Amino acid sequence: MNKAKIAGLAYSVPDRVVTNHDLETMMDTTDEWIQTRSGIKERRWVEEGMSNSGMVLPACKKAIKDAGIEPEDLDAIIVGTVSSDYNFPGMAPMLQQQLGIKTNISAFDISAACSAFIYLLEIGNQFIQTGKYKNILLVGSDVMSCLLDKSPAGRATGVLFGDGGGAAVLQPTEGESYILSTHTYADGSGVEMLKAEAPGSIFYPNRIDSDIVAKGHHLPFQNGREVFKNAVVRMPESINVALKHNNLSIEDVSLVIAHQANYRILKTVAKRMDISMDKMYVNIHKYGNTTAGTIPIAMCEALAEGKFKKGDIIVLTAFGAGYTWASSIIRW
Ligand code: ACO
Repeated sequence: MNKAKIAGLAYSVPDRVVTNHDLETMMDTTDEWIQTRSGIKERRWVEEGMSNSGMVLPACKKAIKDAGIEPEDLDAIIVGTVSSDYNFPGMAPMLQQQLGIKTNISAFDISAACSAFIYLLEIGNQFIQTGKYKNILLVGSDVMSCLLDKSPAGRATGVLFGDGGGAAVLQPTEGESYILSTHTYADGSGVEMLKAEAPGSIFYPNRIDSDIVAKGHHLPFQNGREVFKNAVVRMPESINVALKHNNLSIEDVSLVIAHQANYRILKTVAKRMDISMDKMYVNIHKYGNTTAGTIPIAMCEALAEGKFKKGDIIVLTAFGAGYTWASSIIRW
């Protein structure tokens, strides 16, 4: 069986910084409330007219270049997002076109919300392991700012999210730097706890209309406390599964890169794993929750900051809507 390595990795966030103070003027909130409850100081929002694919395209190009290949060398593009440019088709064929790829490669999207990037790693890893593909572009990216209610009524969710994405190129390797394992899970009993219903076939005969919009069914809804409670159980649980699977202990791990949803969630996960916050990467204060984007963005920044290096063991974990959750161990 082949092994898969991350041969190229990059991220893109919009230039526009939206601080908590900016939100105070829109949402009847305070910098103090947001920082205390979530650890977020600011996030990035795209400028009007910028789509998800446009935002993440520079990251795709950089990841491809870093992997030492041309876009035409890709065998597949797989995107994880909940904020695709169009309702359909998916963003992957759009990126194929924007990258100028003329060959008829495989290109499709998956929907696994905040856990999407680790789901993508699992899918990509399988394609490399079986020998089906040699160069796969994985993209986790979301423009959450266009899903939010930016009025006081939306403040409970609106302050938490930001825009951003990342891309990774997977390739086969015979070396020692590779994805050791991936573990993905879901519990559909959590569907109603975190969702945006419209546009959706549940509203047959129209997936979306003015009545659906007036009732706010197109906006994200969450039961924040339930989400919190499940996140702090499922992420440690999946880290422990991954460690056990690889016969490793948390002491062997250089860095845990967890989905950046909330600083208090990260702190609780660290406590439950009995690790110091030095071992838990944090950049939520800068970007908020970018959904499918948090893991690749955090990986890029942690790498640039020297938080892990070649040969180190890193653990990824995420939790999100579905509920879905996941973990992965990589020897860098
Ligand atoms: N500004 C000011 N006040 C607010 C705001 C806001 N933005 N939002 C809510 N409040 C008020 C509420 O109205 C409520 O007021 P009340 O007591 O007068 O009724 C009070 O603050 C407390 O609200 P709660 O919802 O109970 O606050 P809680 O302490 O649970 O924190 C939070 C809310 C931050 C959402 C928390 O539950 C959480 O982090 N949950 C995890 C959710 C999450 O991360 N979701 C992201 C997607 S899933 C994922 O990525 C894992």
